[in-house]
Amino acid sequence: MPLKLDDRYLKGFISQHEYEGIAPAVKCAAGQLMSQKGQGSDFLGWVTLPEDYDKEEFARIKAAAERVKKNSQVFIVIGIGGSYLGARAAIEFLKSDKYNDLPKDTPDIYFTGNSISSTALQELVTICEGRDVSINMISKSGTTTEPAIAFRVFRELLEKKYGKEGARQRIFCTTDKAKGTLKQLADKEGFETFVVPDNVGGRFSVLTAVGLLPIAVAGCDIDALMNGARRAMKAYTSTELDENDCYKYAAIRNILYNKGKSVEVMVSYEPCYAMMNEWWKQLYGESEGKDQKGLFPASVVFSTDLHSLGQYIQDGRRQLFETVVLIDQPKHQVTLGKDPEDVDGLNYLEGRSMAFINEKAFEGTALAHNDGGVPNVVIHASDFSEDTLGQIIYFFEKACAISGYMLGVNPFNQPGVESYKKNMFALLGKPGYEDQKAALEERIKG
Ligand code: PA5
Repeated sequence: MPLKLDDRYLKGFISQHEYEGIAPAVKCAAGQLMSQKGQGSDFLGWVTLPEDYDKEEFARIKAAAERVKKNSQVFIVIGIGGSYLGARAAIEFLKSDKYNDLPKDTPDIYFTGNSISSTALQELVTICEGRDVSINMISKSGTTTEPAIAFRVFRELLEKKYGKEGARQRIFCTTDKAKGTLKQLADKEGFETFVVPDNVGGRFSVLTAVGLLPIAVAGCDIDALMNGARRAMKAYTSTELDENDCYKYAAIRNILYNKGKSVEVMVSYEPCYAMMNEWWKQLYGESEGKDQKGLFPASVVFSTDLHSLGQYIQDGRRQLFETVVLIDQPKHQVTLGKDPEDVDGLNYLEGRSMAFINEKAFEGTALAHNDGGVPNVVIHASDFSEDTLGQIIYFFEKACAISGYMLGVNPFNQPGVESYKKNMFALLGKPGYEDQKAALEERIKG
């Protein structure tokens, strides 16, 4: 079943004529995207990726995943931003947020190189002691500092443990097809490489080798994932809002933004969706947050966060709206039994599934938040399958591009990400940054 956008909790916040008013802007944005005439059109490879991907490489990804599953107890995925969030989000969605702790016949998977914390890195080194390890270093540019540091540490670890030749069989690099330090290193050392296509930016790359290798190592069906994305690619083409929930979502966010909302809170009622929230936050924050514009993407998991941020959402400053992703079919069912004494007073729920109780929690919350002035967009997905995940990924990617064009920004660049890097390189004394170093140190002295 395709995703379904439910707008009943937008009543009183958006009127029919507002959809009609914004429809031409949606058409224009869709025209820019599909004719490849908008800003950043060199980065539109993801639009047709579910159909136009490298089938030979896809087979190699599956073969590499099988080898890792056979010879490794731990698979270390090194990357940051778009080079890790999608894979981690997909594995937690499809398997579990407790994937490493549950019984399974696939390796534990850890993500590193996404911070500069020596504590986090050393803990992972300890986890690997006495266990068979393979690593996947992922960096499109091949020059990002955080993953490069982690790669140096884990490469040494593997070379010490297995020798140069043994390590070579266990190191996989996902990077540009021709350029960058990582590609040079991989070629020199003979590591197997996978490609991040030139025309697919990091945050749109989960359906390339960037996401597919770790997802396949976790034992997920990457064919079904691509099938789901392909179904979404074919489904979301009409420029009529009534026929295209993906474009309608882009329209709703822009209508609410134009009416003064500045924060979009992504809501899930499933803890295993928390990393999907993180993936979505990067996708939208990095694509739209520029030129002093854009909704700030935030996220919560309910009902957990109803006991913390719920207070703010209900009653704090009225600058936000919520987008709720509901997964209709849980992975596991739990039904409440009867307590003859009814000491906890829960017998009124006897025979009820937790899914039913969760649904009532959502309905009650949506109405309460509506009463508190918070519009809710609801997106229903049927289950936790690979096919559904493929649809969700494509839905949000395409809506992001449409929404960004409607906002008048280039959704495919990230100029702001460079500012901290330049300062950090200067402060660390990287050759070529000498002038900035002195100026920054002067500012820090105060
Ligand atoms: O979306 C993006 O392009 C970024 O978030 C990158 O994914 C991130 O900065 C990592 O870059 P790289 O893959 O070049 O190491």
